[in-house]
Amino acid sequence: MQKILVLDFGGQYDMLIARRVREQGVYAEIRSYDKISCEDIIKENYSGIIFTGGPNSVYDRSSPHFDKTILDLGVPILGICYGHQLVAYMAGGAISSAKDKSEYGRTEITVSPCPLFNEVPEKSVCWMSHTDYVSEVPQGFISVASTESCPSAAIADQSRNIYGVQFHPEVTHTEYGKRILHNFLFAICGLTGDWKMDDFIDRTVEKYKAKLKGKRVLCALSGGVDSSVAAALMHKAIGNDLTCVFVDHGLMRLDEGDEVERVFGKFNMNFVRVNAEDRFLKKLSGVREPEKKRKIIGEEFIRVFEEQAKILGKMNYLVQGTIYPDVVESGKGDASTIKSHHNVGGLPSVIDFDGIVEPLKDLFKDEVRAVGLKLGLPEKLVMRQPFPGPGLAVRIIGEITKEKADVLRKADAIFREELENAGFKPSQYFAVLTDTQSVGVMGDARTYGKTIALRAVTTDDFMTADWAKIPYDVLDTASRRITNEVRSVNRVVYDVTSKPPSTVEWE
Ligand code: XMP
Repeated sequence: MQKILVLDFGGQYDMLIARRVREQGVYAEIRSYDKISCEDIIKENYSGIIFTGGPNSVYDRSSPHFDKTILDLGVPILGICYGHQLVAYMAGGAISSAKDKSEYGRTEITVSPCPLFNEVPEKSVCWMSHTDYVSEVPQGFISVASTESCPSAAIADQSRNIYGVQFHPEVTHTEYGKRILHNFLFAICGLTGDWKMDDFIDRTVEKYKAKLKGKRVLCALSGGVDSSVAAALMHKAIGNDLTCVFVDHGLMRLDEGDEVERVFGKFNMNFVRVNAEDRFLKKLSGVREPEKKRKIIGEEFIRVFEEQAKILGKMNYLVQGTIYPDVVESGKGDASTIKSHHNVGGLPSVIDFDGIVEPLKDLFKDEVRAVGLKLGLPEKLVMRQPFPGPGLAVRIIGEITKEKADVLRKADAIFREELENAGFKPSQYFAVLTDTQSVGVMGDARTYGKTIALRAVTTDDFMTADWAKIPYDVLDTASRRITNEVRSVNRVVYDVTSKPPSTVEWE
């Protein structure tokens, strides 16, 4: 398989660049500049390299640099933003700071003919975000683009296939960004676009058929997109050597547990559903503190799995639904822990497996979804919005009871239904059961009931999020239906905080 290296110098757009490359049918891998050497680049046979942007100035002592010989490896290079400046600096050019002439946002650019700008008009709009600029083009290079305040907005050494662009071709605001990346990948690197989801499925199935022949494999299925697609893919590869265990902790959304069972029932696979609502609720009884809830649920999952493992006998491998952003993020080292995320993956240290299988670890979420659809999983499951591992436990503020979980399930289902009926699909939307009791009036009588909060956010990556500006009439219908149809709720509020300062979930 042909592949492109996205060499990360600390920019915000490393994932976006890799996704844009993959959208053109080329496999792209992100590696941090300090975790790979020129020897590795040759060994791994990359067909091209893209240097990402980064927050630094090339002259800062602490700024990320790379071995200059990368320019002589014979592998085509495209530098973006800081990457463009770094190419120029490494090749002997000069960089200056234009403190009073920074360019941010949409900027008109003029390009001259060169392979990178094939079929790009002389003038178009690109997206800039920089203060430093290439003030002296290095020997062997020519300037091939300019803007009003940036004389070398792109540089080229056509003999070595090395290019740099000050703007960001990966963002949609750059009119011809896609075309420019296409030119780099296909005309300059000479790629053919062999990264296709059908091929991925066939390749992965063949790989695991051979690797796991005769082995017993366990998949911890949460019902979320990633573990469901991993389960379906592995089932295609190894059939009945796979056993899926789905622990229903009783804190799923309305009918979700049954749906998971129905979907996987059709696959005719070894599927175990463990109904563990009672034991989870018992453990959570009286607990109000969010981190404690998360810990208890994580630990109880492990206990349930240990018991299942004993019943099922020795399993050789554990399947996990790890996806590419998980791998990249964990490689970057974690910032401070805001919430201890719980996933069904924390099992290997307590159950004795010979190894872990992560069939989706090279895929982005949209690629995982495409694989899921091709494998025949229902669209409803594959397109599902994210749902936290601890489920409704972190959406019931304060103590958790079955009665509260039932109230929340109903309110949540109504809100989701109303939004979807109205044609709105924010990135994530759900209801929260607050621990506020308030006074109301229903049928001339005083009530003292529960308050439901509705939450809907738009986001690209869930690291930051904006509250969704959904129309008042949708909120109105949802509010009326919830107070009419869900007993004990007499008040509905809408959460209008973004992240930060809030988080998406309330706990
Ligand atoms: P926060 O609340 O941290 O949520 O802003 C960001 C995204 O992560 C999801 N989330 C979780 N996902 N296990 C998960 O797998 C967890 O424990 C967990 N907690 C939050 C949340 O739903 C949102 O999409």
